[in-house]
Amino acid sequence: MVAYKSRTVERIRLPSRERRERALEGAGYNVFNIDAEEVFVDLLTDSGTGAMSDRQWAALMRGDESYAGSRSFTELESAVEEVMGFSRVIPTHQGRGAENVLYGALLSEGDVALNNTHFDTTRAHVANQGADAVDCPDETARDLDADEPFKGNFSLERGWEVVEDVGADRVPLVILTITNNSAAGQPVSVENTRRVAEFADEIDATFVIDACRFAENAHFVREREPEFEGRSVAEIAREQLGYADAVVMSGKKDALANAGGFVATADPDLVERCKARAILYEGFPTYGGMSGRDVAAMAVGLREAVEPGYVEDRVESVRTLAALLEEAGVPIVTPPGGHAVYLDAESFYPEIPPAEFPGQALVCELYREGGVRGVELGSFAFPDADRPELVRLAVPRRTYHREHFEHVAETARAALERREEASGLRLVTDPEMPEIRHFTAELEPVSDSTSIRTEGRR
Ligand code: F0G
Repeated sequence: MVAYKSRTVERIRLPSRERRERALEGAGYNVFNIDAEEVFVDLLTDSGTGAMSDRQWAALMRGDESYAGSRSFTELESAVEEVMGFSRVIPTHQGRGAENVLYGALLSEGDVALNNTHFDTTRAHVANQGADAVDCPDETARDLDADEPFKGNFSLERGWEVVEDVGADRVPLVILTITNNSAAGQPVSVENTRRVAEFADEIDATFVIDACRFAENAHFVREREPEFEGRSVAEIAREQLGYADAVVMSGKKDALANAGGFVATADPDLVERCKARAILYEGFPTYGGMSGRDVAAMAVGLREAVEPGYVEDRVESVRTLAALLEEAGVPIVTPPGGHAVYLDAESFYPEIPPAEFPGQALVCELYREGGVRGVELGSFAFPDADRPELVRLAVPRRTYHREHFEHVAETARAALERREEASGLRLVTDPEMPEIRHFTAELEPVSDSTSIRTEGRR
């Protein structure tokens, strides 16, 4: 069922193959370094790249820019309370600002944080506090085409193993990321959430939900967890988030905003500790580094995310892309998650070893073939983790249509047909923080045969 019509459009153009070749080389084979103008279909991220609604634009015009006590903040507080069930909110400039505020308040040097799977910025913020980030993914996450309903779950077995190993005193923080972005955007069940809450309680740790994609997760719960059949996304979201002591949120995801984030909790002590850090790093706690108008638009977006129709349309568009890619013979992680389709680069390029970043090679080929920008989430992005070689094609919210996805699938098909020509890559720069090297590092092809690629292509 179609849920929107467009009133503002933006012209896009496919640059010539020569321009794409030049752009790729100039970017050091890292698509983060390519100008957006040189990209045709941009699936780098679903973060802050979606289309806002007419109601969000209207809210933007009414934003209150007061330094303290802004009306837009009051609107955010009531949206967070109604949608997520938390009475205290600390806005931040985006999700990682919220991570810095909250994790800085909860972690000290030598601590261990557990997470179903840490996202890159989460892992980096844990490391930045001198703590260790340990992943506890469900076993099914490794099986890229297992038809399991909740491959994003937290493995309690693994959690207990770590606790027995390091001692409960060293684990003050347990995080549950819904949906599990680094594990192919797979959902987490409410039952698993309850068990993680009990586990955190038993070891006396604070239980935080990274709620970036909480509405998408609630949709999967409704579809796949029998207990929740027939319940609304709004009800499920409140129930699931209700098990947490606090949430970290990027407003750029399921609050449908172009900027913003927040920490929310009902714990008055925690809120005071967070406020002090927020003032230091973000801004006064009624704007937190955002303009008042952005706060206002985020408040409206948060409510829209749980309205009937929104998330169904969203997940359907991801499924359309997944189906087209499968038809084109491209190996993908199934079932697809809520915000992106993840390609299996190991199967795509069995000849390219992990040390030569098969995922990044695929990212480069998708750009070279069709101006499509995705992101590597394999051994380039996660250097020390034992994880599959994935490429994520993230779908911005309310932005692209079937024709765009057809182009993406055709591009991937073309890359597949030319798979023998693809080369692995090696790093030529070595950024300081390994957890976030993929944003800036430059690479070069292992085989220096790029010149033959420019001949005879569209
Ligand atoms: N947590 C998760 C699970 C995320 O996916 C992200 C961002 C963040 C925290 C940080 O939020 O970007 O607002 O600072 N993910 C984006 C992505 C960047 O492309 O998946 P942020």
